[in-house]
Amino acid sequence: MAKPRVLILGGCGFVGRNLVEYLVDNEFCSKIRVADKVPTQTAWLNEKHKECFEKVEFKSANLVNPANMDRVFDDADGGWDFVFNLAAETKYGQTDEVYHERVFMITQNAAQEAAKRGVKRFIEVSTAQVYNSDKDVSTESSKVSPWTAIAKFKLKAEEELAKTAGLNYVIVRPAVIYGVGDRLSLTPRLIIGAVYKQLQEVMKLLWTKDLRINTVHVTDVCRALWHLRDASESGQVFNLADKTDTSQGVVSELVSQIFGIKHDYVGSVMSNLAKVNMSSVVEDSNEKHMVPWADACQKDNIENTPLSPFLDQELLYNKHLHIDGSKIEGTGFSYEVPQITEGKLREVVDDYVKLRLFPASLVP
Ligand SMILES: NC(=O)c1ccc[n+]([C@@H]2O[C@H](COP(=O)([O-])OP(=O)(O)OC[C@H]3O[C@@H](n4cnc5c(N)ncnc54)[C@H](O)[C@@H]3O)[C@@H](O)[C@H]2O)c1
Repeated sequence: MAKPRVLILGGCGFVGRNLVEYLVDNEFCSKIRVADKVPTQTAWLNEKHKECFEKVEFKSANLVNPANMDRVFDDADGGWDFVFNLAAETKYGQTDEVYHERVFMITQNAAQEAAKRGVKRFIEVSTAQVYNSDKDVSTESSKVSPWTAIAKFKLKAEEELAKTAGLNYVIVRPAVIYGVGDRLSLTPRLIIGAVYKQLQEVMKLLWTKDLRINTVHVTDVCRALWHLRDASESGQVFNLADKTDTSQGVVSELVSQIFGIKHDYVGSVMSNLAKVNMSSVVEDSNEKHMVPWADACQKDNIENTPLSPFLDQELLYNKHLHIDGSKIEGTGFSYEVPQITEGKLREVVDDYVKLRLFPASLVP
């Protein structure tokens, strides 16, 4: 049987580049096309990802504009079997208008086009931030109550898929995804750890060690996306989370081990007080981290890096990301990285050091 033909929307991003690597390395596809508004040359790809992208066709396109869909989907060799939608605005702290365009509309445009062209399956990457943010664990049938602006528009996008006539689709709701190429998930916490090494101070964190920040490794996300191309029936939703039940305590412990620092918590009482004036607390702490980070980059002659210790206010409230990722295992999938480890986090830092985007002098 001929190998499938695959279109990856937003394929130059963190998850996208790892999906390209997974598909290329395993020779799963007869053709891969990536459509993204960011060209590969400016996407800060590592050597391995650059090599993999040589085997991929690239289309530069802003997917917010429906007029670009023909160009993205048209192909002289035939149609696409599977479409993976990873394209979205992932920066926090933007307006609803921005997310309506760059989250909801992208999904709407792409889903309509996929349905029109009879794509076998459309695989949508949503987020686990759509669930209630209290302490309880959420399964796919738990109450939804999006706690970030991105998640609000992701949920609308999910609902749009159900309304798209003739579309065969599945949705994944991943926890915090980490791994090589991550910039916005756990990487800011790694950078902050490095900054405290530079400052020789105890790293102080809001709330307590019990705040859930459930995680999933990017290779498991890519494996799950590929698995779901033909597993389960259309319309199903799957959480993705490893077995660690990762909390702020787990992440901070690992970050402290990597950088040889100490950490502590402000605690709930003081954090609730800080909440009253959260924007200035966040501004102060970002400022405190930015300067030593910039100094360390300068010292190591790093002139330009996409990495930053900046954490958006939206992520610093007492909101738990706590999900059960086991439903997908009922379809024959298993997690290859069930535990988050120091080694797996070090891989992220080591890759950036090799690319000269993270100061080597901050890494013991
Ligand atoms: N990284 C995580 O922890 C995480 C967790 C849950 C869900 N997700 C979701 O997974 C998906 C992939 O995330 P990521 O971490 O790879 O993000 P990313 O920001 O690294 O990648 C997104 C890609 O989409 C592209 N893109 C954005 N707007 C576009 C547009 N208008 N036209 C064309 N391309 C556009 C970007 O250029 C980028 O290459 C996103 O939908 C994200 O919300 C990510």
